[in-house]
Amino acid sequence: MTSESPSLTGTDPTSGPPPGCPAHGLGPGAVHRLYGPDAEDLDALYDRLREQHGTVAPVLLHDDVPMWVVLGHAENLQLVRSPSQYTRDSRIWTPLREGMVKPDHPLMPHIAWQPICSHAEGNEHQRLRAAVTAAMATIDHRSVRRHIGRHTQGLVNGFCERGRAELVSQFAEHLPMAVMCEILGMPEEYNDRMVQAARDALKGTETAIQSHTYVMDALSRLTTRRRARPEDDFTSHLIGHPAGLTDDEVREHLRLVLFASYEATANLLANALRMVLTEPGFRAQLNGGQMTVPEAIEQSLWDEPPFSTVFGYFAKQDTELGGRRIRKGDGLLFAPAPGNVDPRVRPDLSASMQGNRSHLAFGGGPHECPGQDIGRAIADVGVDALLTRLSDIQLDCAEEDLRWRSSIASRHLVALPVRFEPKPEQDVDLPPRAMPVPAQRSGPKEGTPGGDPVPAAAPRQAAFPEAPAARTAAPAQAPAPSRGLWRRLLRWWRGD
Ligand code: HEM
Repeated sequence: MTSESPSLTGTDPTSGPPPGCPAHGLGPGAVHRLYGPDAEDLDALYDRLREQHGTVAPVLLHDDVPMWVVLGHAENLQLVRSPSQYTRDSRIWTPLREGMVKPDHPLMPHIAWQPICSHAEGNEHQRLRAAVTAAMATIDHRSVRRHIGRHTQGLVNGFCERGRAELVSQFAEHLPMAVMCEILGMPEEYNDRMVQAARDALKGTETAIQSHTYVMDALSRLTTRRRARPEDDFTSHLIGHPAGLTDDEVREHLRLVLFASYEATANLLANALRMVLTEPGFRAQLNGGQMTVPEAIEQSLWDEPPFSTVFGYFAKQDTELGGRRIRKGDGLLFAPAPGNVDPRVRPDLSASMQGNRSHLAFGGGPHECPGQDIGRAIADVGVDALLTRLSDIQLDCAEEDLRWRSSIASRHLVALPVRFEPKPEQDVDLPPRAMPVPAQRSGPKEGTPGGDPVPAAAPRQAAFPEAPAARTAAPAQAPAPSRGLWRRLLRWWRGD
């Protein structure tokens, strides 16, 4: 049944003032802002909206631009899986067409239509997406695992002797960039400056445009180089695809892939590590072997999807969603964060979702994330290797002192300080090994949070089913593995 809610765009003459109209008021039961003081705790706001409006709620974006936010799990899936009713092409969005969205709107980078697969539909979407997915299909997963392992080893070497680290800036933000630079075909561009530039461009700070230019210059150089002399990498396969992408289209898709993977995977790594460090039950399950690292990552994708919402989908015709009348030209936020905690799907939020991958973190329908295996692999291998090497790792601040930076699109952990007993560096070309924790210094420091330290060689299950030996291999105090096993292990690690 369709409720008698007003059309968002206010084109229904019987509906009274539209939500965007100042006369509408923002009292109880009225439309809430997804910005400013209303939105300080977005999760709590989504809960209130669900109580007041059900599975699809009217909200206001910056400048009080009207939008629907989709809160139900089933309704989110219906939205992304109905390309005949909804498009990602913002040019049909009524507030944009009627000039209500100003050019300096803070969400303009998400709103402005671009010639990329995320904004395209129909044949054009198929053309662009086919090139992206075909280029991705050429990526050798074993060599990706090798890159992830090597870079994880290198990053941990950077701080393991100090006994302290800040895992957001020293690990989570670096690993995806290092791996993606390898995959795209520009390993030489990976450095601190590139990580800072991507972070800065996404934060929208004063230097965001300059930082964005820095990243785009690197992608332009790569496009020119590979157009002239193709190699066996993602960029060359994208250029060489029969879809015949222009240089502009290639650059824009490299940008899409680099930023989407960098931001989402950095968030996923930080969220998963935060969970391991602050939720004792979680860590105990990992250490006891009742949960594998990939299962822990999947739970994190349910509880804290790296993109809380995706802007946006737009109604191509008058329709209905979650009992709401949706008018042609209305905009809707696809919303994994509230959708994943829909009480109809998860009546008990503390219950484990082990074995259930039907969360919304990677979207769905024709635009479903084509890079999800890579995102998962970076998180699985990275978290597993880091926990293997720093098995006594603990949070180095009170849990209440952790801070997040939230926007409509995502929620980032600002910093994740940790401490552990200092450990020696390891060869980046070898699998990570657990190091012994000196007996006299292995206990928790008094008055510090973070739970009990983990025994140095506590076995967890394999991050990858293909590599059962890797997780428990060669702990420093264990008997040396046989030469055959060691060779097999090395071959797996090097991706031979
Ligand atoms: C944990 C990591 C990741 C998460 C949570 C994530 C999530 C998402 C989501 C929610 C979408 C939008 C789906 C929609 O519009 O309905 C998306 C699209 C996309 N993602 Fe990812 N992503 C991740 C990693 C990656 C990686 C590693 C790559 C590339 C290697 C990638 C490439 C893309 C592309 C190209 C699109 C646009 C697809 C289209 O519109 O057809 N993503 N991703």
